[in-house]
Formats: sequence, C-alpha cells, structure tokens
Amino acid sequence: MFDSDKVVLTGIKPTGMPHIGNYVGALKPMIELSQTHKTYMFIADLHSLNTIHDANTIRENTYAMAATMVAGGLNLNNAVLFRQSDIVPVYQLATLLMNVTPKGLMNRAHSYKAAVDRNAAAGLDTDAGVNMGLYTYPILMAADILLYGADIVPVGADQKQHVEFARDIAGYFNNAYGDVFRLPEPVIGRDNGLIPGLDGRKMSKSYDNTIAIFAPENELKRKIMRIITDSKTPDEPKNPDESTIFQLYKHFATDSEIAEFREMFLRGGMGYGTAKTRLFDRVNSVLGTPRSEYERLMQNRAELDAILADGAARARVVADKTIARVKRAMLGLN
Ligand code: ADP
Ligand code: TRP
Repeated sequence: MFDSDKVVLTGIKPTGMPHIGNYVGALKPMIELSQTHKTYMFIADLHSLNTIHDANTIRENTYAMAATMVAGGLNLNNAVLFRQSDIVPVYQLATLLMNVTPKGLMNRAHSYKAAVDRNAAAGLDTDAGVNMGLYTYPILMAADILLYGADIVPVGADQKQHVEFARDIAGYFNNAYGDVFRLPEPVIGRDNGLIPGLDGRKMSKSYDNTIAIFAPENELKRKIMRIITDSKTPDEPKNPDESTIFQLYKHFATDSEIAEFREMFLRGGMGYGTAKTRLFDRVNSVLGTPRSEYERLMQNRAELDAILADGAARARVVADKTIARVKRAMLGLN
C-alpha cells in the first residue's frame, strides 16, 4: 500500500474493550501493514489519562488491546508493540515541544474546541472540566509521532488534525533548530466504511452499541441476535445496503459469499433471524482461532508483559537517539 521504506506508526487509546469497529477500522489495517512495513504500534495509555482516572481500567484495557493485536496476527518481527508510558523520552519530548508550540494552535484543536462549545452551550465557564491533559493532548501526540521518525500515520478522520499539528510542530522546531524531525503524513484509511453498531449508528463505546471483537461465543451470539432491524416479514425483499447485518457480514466474508448474501436479501424469503444466524456463524468461524489465542494470552499476563517489554526495549533504542538529538539542539547537551 505504501512505499515499504516508510515507517508507519499509530497509537490507540485503552479507553474500552476493543470492539469490531476498532478492529476492522484501526487494528486490522495495522496488522496488515506490519506484514510489509516497519511499524510502531503503541497503546496510548498516557492519552487516556485526561478522561480515565482509574488505573485498573487502563491496565486491563491495555492488556486487552495488546492481546488483540497479537492474536490478530501482528507481525512482531516488523512491528514494535509497546505501551506509551513505558518510554520515558516521550514525556521529555512533550515538555520540550511545548516551547515551539504556539498556544493558538492548541486553542484550535477540535477536541478542545468541542469541549469549549459544549460548555458555552450549557452556560458554563468555557474551560469547565478541561484539564491540561486535554488542552495539550496534541503536543503529546506530536511527541509520539516525532520521537520514532514516523512517515505515515494511519488514523481515523477525527485524528487527522492532530497529525497535521505534529507536522506543524516539527516544522516550527526544524526552523528554529535545524533539520531534526521528519515530517509525518496522516493517512485516513480507517473510516472507509464505518462499522455500524447494534442500533445501526456508528459502532462506538460512546453509544453503548458495540460487540467486543473477542467476546466469548455466547456473548457474540446474544449481541448479534440483538441487532436492530426494520419490521419486514421474511418473504419481503430487503435492502442489504441499509442492513447492519449485511454491513457487518461484508467485513468477514469472501467476495462470493458477500454476493450470495446480497442476493438473498434482495430476493426475499430470508427472515432477519436467519440472516443473523448466518452472520454469527461467519463471524464466529473467522474469529474462533484468534479468540482462543486472545483468551490464552489474557490468561498469561507474563507473556503479554514480555511482549510489551520487548517492544519497549526496541522503541527505546530509537527514542533515546531522538531525544539526545533534541537535547543537543535545544540545550547544547548530549
Ligand atoms: P470509540 O468510538 O468506540 O470511542 P475510538 O475513537 O477509541 O472508538 O476508536 C479508535 C479507532 O478505531 C478510531 O480512530 C477508528 O479508526 C476506529 N474505529 C472506531 N469505531 C469505528 C467504527 N465504527 N468503524 C470503523 N472504525 C472505527
Ligand atoms: N489520539 C489518538 C486517538 O484518540 C491515539 C493516539 C495517541 C495516536 N498518539 C498517537 C494516533 C500517535 C496516532 C499517532 O485515537
């Protein structure tokens, strides 16, 4: 997909159990890229701190995210999988970058502006509930990206502006101190085909309509059976493009299976119950093997710790070099 010399990097926040939307939209594309590219994939636990103040939740979601990536087939030869907070230079770089980042840039960040707008609409002080973690979120994200010399940063559309800020910040830095940082590019691949949730809206933990990607079989079945449909009778023809069942199926089946299922919708004669059972069978058969691996890893925390420690050690080699160059440039220190 990209020039194979390019370094690919992305982070994902451990704010919930990874769901089918996260998997298809963000994790699976990274797993695929890891077969051919040097990739950095980290769990952005520091970024989750501005909303989650419960350490157990962050730890458990971090393990679930890491186990999902490994069970999903991340190529650990090419991919460096690590926990953001394990790398000390990222905190250092964020502090250093503060000094070349205009405050006005942070005022323009979508996530901060959204909080301000919500407050204004509610008649509150515009900064009510806004902590500095939220306000400076894009600086920490710039540190993540610039520390590892990323060329390509695959993100969802909502994160594009943050990657552009990282590029801007790298530019301000390079202007002042010489050519230290590589300029990253955002790639918006993830949202091609948003995965719908149980209620037909975008699958999102904010809507409580998710299916955990490696949910146990009985939970998977229960959730799929709960997908909201219209009230067409089994005999009536149905529009696959408006059906959550079909939209989910598309991500788990082969082209010929998809064509056949589409035809069954259009022809009529298939009830939604039957369609859901077919969806369940398909998803369950695709996810069965990685789910067992996921469950095994979640029971073997020491193995996950070892994978994350190995990733951190590999990430540190690059991070230490970058931070040394930055300190030399800014402070005259080695
Ligand atoms: P949530 O909406 O559940 O809070 P996040 O915003 O944490 O999910 O999602 C992390 C990434 O997962 C997003 O940047 C996006 O790439 C991907 N993603 C999330 N939900 C979906 C979805 N319904 N369809 C496709 N991709 C999704
Ligand atoms: N902010 C991203 C999100 O909410 C996660 C993230 C943190 C990230 N650091 C990153 C993504 C660096 C790409 C690159 O989804």
